[in-house]
Amino acid sequence: MSGLSDQFERYEQEALAAIAAAQSTGDLEAVRIEFLGKKKGRLRDLQRLLGRAEPEQRPLVGKQFNAVKTRVGAALEQRQQALDRPQAELTALDITLPGRQIELGRRHPITQTIDEFKDIMGRFGFSVVDGPEIEDEQHNFIALNIPSEHPARDPLDNFYLAAADTAAGGPTLLRSQTSTVQIRVMEQTKPPIRIVSLGRVYRPDTIDATHSCMFHQMEGLLIDGDVTLAQLKTVLNQFAAAYLGHDVKIRFRPSFFPFTEPSVEVDMLWGEDWLEVGGAGMVDPNVLTAVGYDPDEVTGFAFGLGIERFCMKRHEINDIRRFYENDIRFLRQF
Ligand code: PHE
Repeated sequence: MSGLSDQFERYEQEALAAIAAAQSTGDLEAVRIEFLGKKKGRLRDLQRLLGRAEPEQRPLVGKQFNAVKTRVGAALEQRQQALDRPQAELTALDITLPGRQIELGRRHPITQTIDEFKDIMGRFGFSVVDGPEIEDEQHNFIALNIPSEHPARDPLDNFYLAAADTAAGGPTLLRSQTSTVQIRVMEQTKPPIRIVSLGRVYRPDTIDATHSCMFHQMEGLLIDGDVTLAQLKTVLNQFAAAYLGHDVKIRFRPSFFPFTEPSVEVDMLWGEDWLEVGGAGMVDPNVLTAVGYDPDEVTGFAFGLGIERFCMKRHEINDIRRFYENDIRFLRQF
């Protein structure tokens, strides 16, 4: 009987070592056939020996035999699972599947429009300048010939900063127009001038489909020896055609701005109606004087266009609020 026990023990040790050494499912199958195979496996040999044991010892060695068989079987099963695991991972990571889509970001439609405006105006010979969004009254109003009793200066029509009263340089506000940049450029540059400036402006307007309390303007300024209103109209017509195509309809309507004389309102045909898209005019002599120019020597024109409205026209966007809601479904269309 001890002989049989020894054989069981040797069998088990060799089987467990072989199982542990198997590096593939194929290896392991060979081990299974060698140790547990129904026809020629070593377990069968042991089983045969079992039959020759003394009858009174049979229950004991039978139990030993079964225990060895169970342990070897379990070790084999465990090893099989271990060998299966990397393969299972490979299946989960099916390399034949298309890769995960990488979402590319894109520029906001307003940014795209701004870039295109700069491009078009660049071709007309206008260079791009920047100005601050927080302005003083000098640049937002006074130098632009807007007197203190003018309705445009009503505190309720502007975003004055709370620190305004205590600020050393006087009240400050979020600029209500990009015309401020006209003044800043003329203060620092001698004529001739040919610039555009694009950026945000702020007005406490009631928000609706065509109005926002913040929007973007493109300011244009051209100063030279002998500038005419016809040139202004040509530049704006050419600009609109370049951005919106040659069938765009632009209309100039007599109007008033304190800083231009004469002044026009620029309208665009919008379905059946005309929609105001900007203001323009010949730079008022008072403005030229305010920046130290001689109105007898230089003339010029200026214009301010609403960037959103041009972009809305181009893309048939019916509500200005879409631009500011950050809805990816809207933004990814551009
Ligand atoms: N600044 C004016 C506005 O915001 C537009 C304008 C610009 C008018 C330049 C004339 C000249 O309404």
